[in-house]
Amino acid sequence: MRKISLFIYLLTFYSFQVAFAINPSDKLIGKDVSVFYPSHYDEHQHQPSMALLKEPKVTGDIPTNWEYNPHFYSKEGKTYATLSVAKGTSLYGTGETTGTLIRNGKTITLWNTDNFKYSIDNGKRLYQSQPWVLGVNADGTSFGVIADNTWKQQIDLSDSIRFISNGPAFRLIIIKRNSPQEVIRELTNLIGRMEMPPLWALGYQQSRFSYVPDTRIKSVADTFRLKNIPCDVIWMDINYMERFKIFTFDKVKIPDPKEVNDYLHKTGFHSIWMIDPGVKVEKGYSVYESGTLGDRWVQTSTHREFHGNVWPGQCVFPDFTIPETRTWWSGLYRDFMATGADGIWNDMNEPSVFDGPDGTMPENNWHRGGGDLPAGNHLRYHNVYGMLMVKASRVGLLNANPDKRPFVLSRSGYLGSNRYAATWTGDNSGTVDNMKLAIPMSLNLGLSGQAFSGPDMGGFTGITTPDLFGQWVAMGAFFPFMRGHASNETNNKEPWAFGPEIEDVSRTALNRRYRLLPYFYTLFYEASKTGMPIMRPVFFSNPKDTLLRKEQQVFLVGNDLLIIPKWAEHPSLPEGNWRTISIAGENSLNDKYQADVRIKEGAIVPLGKIIQNTAQYNLDSLTLLVSLDQKGEARGTLYEDAGEGFNYLKGEYRTFEFRAKQKGNILSVKIDSKKGSLKHPGRNYKVKLVTDNSSVEGTWTKSSLLHITVASTMLTKN
Ligand code: NOJ
Repeated sequence: MRKISLFIYLLTFYSFQVAFAINPSDKLIGKDVSVFYPSHYDEHQHQPSMALLKEPKVTGDIPTNWEYNPHFYSKEGKTYATLSVAKGTSLYGTGETTGTLIRNGKTITLWNTDNFKYSIDNGKRLYQSQPWVLGVNADGTSFGVIADNTWKQQIDLSDSIRFISNGPAFRLIIIKRNSPQEVIRELTNLIGRMEMPPLWALGYQQSRFSYVPDTRIKSVADTFRLKNIPCDVIWMDINYMERFKIFTFDKVKIPDPKEVNDYLHKTGFHSIWMIDPGVKVEKGYSVYESGTLGDRWVQTSTHREFHGNVWPGQCVFPDFTIPETRTWWSGLYRDFMATGADGIWNDMNEPSVFDGPDGTMPENNWHRGGGDLPAGNHLRYHNVYGMLMVKASRVGLLNANPDKRPFVLSRSGYLGSNRYAATWTGDNSGTVDNMKLAIPMSLNLGLSGQAFSGPDMGGFTGITTPDLFGQWVAMGAFFPFMRGHASNETNNKEPWAFGPEIEDVSRTALNRRYRLLPYFYTLFYEASKTGMPIMRPVFFSNPKDTLLRKEQQVFLVGNDLLIIPKWAEHPSLPEGNWRTISIAGENSLNDKYQADVRIKEGAIVPLGKIIQNTAQYNLDSLTLLVSLDQKGEARGTLYEDAGEGFNYLKGEYRTFEFRAKQKGNILSVKIDSKKGSLKHPGRNYKVKLVTDNSSVEGTWTKSSLLHITVASTMLTKN
């Protein structure tokens, strides 16, 4: 017994010793980006990296003055990587999580979990895993840490940055930059960025568990048009399927899916249909039969077909680590998309297994890998199950419709899954707390590389009150992804379901979103190029301003718009003159619901028209909202392309720069077409100058140089 404890002591001692030794393979892999290896690193346990786009190339040695030096060690069967954090450092990222925007002091588990109402572990492990921490130093300079590790792990930020893994020792990648924005740019250089989504995916989307039968789908869509409430997408949840069997349609409820899709398309709607990973075990069911024939399923530790319960009952689960399984899965979408479906919703892909340990598969289930991916147990591949699934789904959509931009929404994810799918934050509740929580959740997803996210607007489960819905829709209009969704056990949550007042609130909120689409779309383009989140924390306006570091009630859309929800209490606002704007005729200052939206001084924001869906999107007339800085100047940009297809990758797009300058009481705005080959005949522009307490509009002019005369009383403050 004493011998054993001496042995354990020596082993622990040894592992601590090794941990502090400098490893010759620690290297620079880019300008101010380093990779650090633990001494017992086994690349077969971690590579190819699931997070990184490609294996990084060594560019040199780490300089001796490099200040972010991690320690690696192992203890009691777990592997650790720790980085100490200087006083005054604010931590963010850590992917999808409940809790505050600032992550100092928090611990979360990265083990993708179907977490209804965020009730398991108090929401400290959710549907996604992003082993990533962004640090903002006291002086605003920044760094970021990737734990290149898919295995079950924890991020413990109680007194340092500590990754604690149930798997073998793993490497860290550390980025050092002058600002958090530059860190995010480098993070997404490494892990990849989303491609441009179709324009329609930026519109409002209406979902419910579930709109069936087909007549209900149509009547929901028709009601939007009848009531003039803008909407682009109707979502079909699992009840459209025949007994929850994926890639099937219930013959009674949805006798003709093509007819449903055609119907929706005629009035400018797009349709998104749910596909889960679980395949019902049923003889004669084509997906089960073809998958079984091809030997596509995840196995138990004894290499038998693994069975687990999900909606359809006993299911098998595709092993997405096998390349042939991914190809087979992609192929399943061909006929499905031929019905006219526009997008796919991959749900339950943690994977959720109702009767499995901890709601998923046993950790020792077996994934067979293939290509350059080694075989491994579920403990290793669990967190990337959903990512590999949506990777294959995306290919399936592309193959089915090569000229269309694929849109996939995924519940589960891992660092880098932003390359394949947008996300929403799962099964939240219709509570004030959950509404407020949606802001830090989407902000931290954006700070973890996933720019395209949003909550179930209005709250998934529980009865949502009219007042809550009004507040939520008014705020949700400024999230990157805006979808109303509701669980099967709740009240109706369409914008008109709460009475005329809230219907009106919703219409105004959505009119605001739709008028802002040119600005949003430009931000999506920026995100696709630089990884910059669309929705940004206010500390982005000045990372040196430590008073903004904890602010999570208000947020920025891009750099130029500040969103202050009506319920925000004493928020910390960025410095400078941010002027309240009216976007769709509203007066937010006298409104119980509409968020106060303020434009930054020195900014120009393009506004489109009020439209009912993006099929009507047409930039033939644009209003330029101008807010002058103290020098009497302002700037803005616009990106435009076909909104669909891939010609933009061949240069068929156009960017514009707007520059405003005030001289005396004349304001001139110059419009320069910058990049891209997209032809356009020129358009009507109107300038709307926003000053401290009022605004003035010019007239429509088809010119690239606009002038308006401004009463000098309006300009005194400039
Ligand atoms: C769980 C998802 O999170 C939810 O959005 C969906 O409505 C249900 N599954 C039913 O498919």
